[in-house]
Amino acid sequence: MATTTSSKARTVKAPQVKDQPLFINGRFVDSVSGKTFPAINPANGEVLCQVAEGDAADIDLAVKAARAALETGPWNRMDAADRGRLLYKLADLVEKNSEELAALESLNCGKTINDSRGDLQGVVNTLRYYAGWADKIEGRTVPVRGNFLSYTLRQPIGVVGQIIPWNFPLLMLAWKWGPALACGNTVVMKPAEQTPLTAMRMAELVMEAGFPNGVINLVPGYGETAGAALVRHPDVDKIAFTGHVDTAKLIQKSAADTLKRCTFELGGKSPNVIFADCDMEQAVAGAFHAIYFHGGQCCTAGSRLFVEEKIRQEFVERLAERSKQRKLGDPLSTETEQGPQVSQEQLDKILGYVKLGEKEGARLITGGQRWGNKGYYVEPTIFDNVKDEMAIARDEIFGPVVSVLPFKTMEEVVDRANRTYYGLAAAIWTKDIDKAHNYARQVKAGTVWVNCYHVVDTTTPFGGFKMSGQGRENGEAALEHYTEMKTVTIKLN
Ligand code: NAI
Ligand code: MG
Repeated sequence: MATTTSSKARTVKAPQVKDQPLFINGRFVDSVSGKTFPAINPANGEVLCQVAEGDAADIDLAVKAARAALETGPWNRMDAADRGRLLYKLADLVEKNSEELAALESLNCGKTINDSRGDLQGVVNTLRYYAGWADKIEGRTVPVRGNFLSYTLRQPIGVVGQIIPWNFPLLMLAWKWGPALACGNTVVMKPAEQTPLTAMRMAELVMEAGFPNGVINLVPGYGETAGAALVRHPDVDKIAFTGHVDTAKLIQKSAADTLKRCTFELGGKSPNVIFADCDMEQAVAGAFHAIYFHGGQCCTAGSRLFVEEKIRQEFVERLAERSKQRKLGDPLSTETEQGPQVSQEQLDKILGYVKLGEKEGARLITGGQRWGNKGYYVEPTIFDNVKDEMAIARDEIFGPVVSVLPFKTMEEVVDRANRTYYGLAAAIWTKDIDKAHNYARQVKAGTVWVNCYHVVDTTTPFGGFKMSGQGRENGEAALEHYTEMKTVTIKLN
């Protein structure tokens, strides 16, 4: 899978792709049913290759392998420090192959090569961060009443089912593998049906790193079949899911039958609040990045843009000017700023919301059309005069479509920002430190940015208030969701 790396080259060579099997118990295997599904290039809609389609039977084999690896394999007896070393090794291999992985990510997911390279750095950072945690997950001694010694142990939850989406295929994989493996769990992952290719390349690196068989298993397939089977499986101890709120509701209901632990990282309709006392240049650039990063296919997208009334007109004009200049095109070109949306389904959903916005009476300032005649591209789109109750201001569109909502006071904007069932991220642009801290304290969101946006680091907890999620990923916080706490009490004679 050679990539062109000469400094002159502006378009990275598309990697070669071949048909993909499943990865179960350290082996690359066909699905039990023999069925396959196509992996698509969203830049032109063409089929890249066929991928083995896992369903309930394959999930069962993968869960059995993960259970055996957990209970009886070398993973079970491995020193925590050695688990860490395997994660460091995997990080090194990802780093060594990062150009190839980035190109493959861009090919299958449509994100620009620059963004894919950024994601790959995040993957390496995440794996290294959790590698470092592996031998630092400690219990405590507890001063109990009576002549007893009580201490706590933090042990793996067990077999963990992980279901990830298509917007950050490799980064979501790393966010889920890192803490799970550092804590000693074993994993059955179902990548998104739209973007299985980089996950399957990771399986090869897992082998090369030397993870014992069955510790990591990958079963590509559809949500309603493979995903649902993983959630239902009685021998899976926990589900970690990233995706749509409605899917999470289905998962939580199904997981109730076996009382599985669940963590969710879901969507958002994040308020990005611009005060008149901001640095206008930086705030325009920030609002632009907040909504258009990865074509708006980002759970933290700054899709509700609250602008203080007295600067609204100038702000919208400057944002529109920039939007018109955004360079859409081949994701593999280093000059491209925005690639295609991931699928026909997403393209249709986004254009449907644009129509709805116009029908609801919002003012379309720029964009609103499909771009080009092949692939799933959408023009950067701005709606002004949006009202809080319109669907485009309430629903997650997951595309490059921003709603501008004017406001006058802090009290008003905090109240309106919080009037949503989401609570993933929020931002404020101001030079007034009091405003910044007051907003940060009052806004209901798992992440708050002041004079910046989309700054996410593997060291800091990430997750949602309200219906944007349950639990936290990244940072030390994630470890809690991958360990069981055990109390041991010894009578001292
Ligand atoms: P989705 O929630 O259906 O898919 C995410 C993952 O869940 C995929 O791996 C899928 O196969 C799996 N899945 C689907 N149904 C399942 C089920 N019944 N049981 C178990 N697993 C299941 O999201 P989808 O359909 O790809 O996108 C729809 C919308 O969801 C997007 O337009 C966006 O609004 C939102 N979304 C949010 C993401 C986030 O980062 N929070 C990521 C992707 C989508
Ligand atoms: Mg879906």
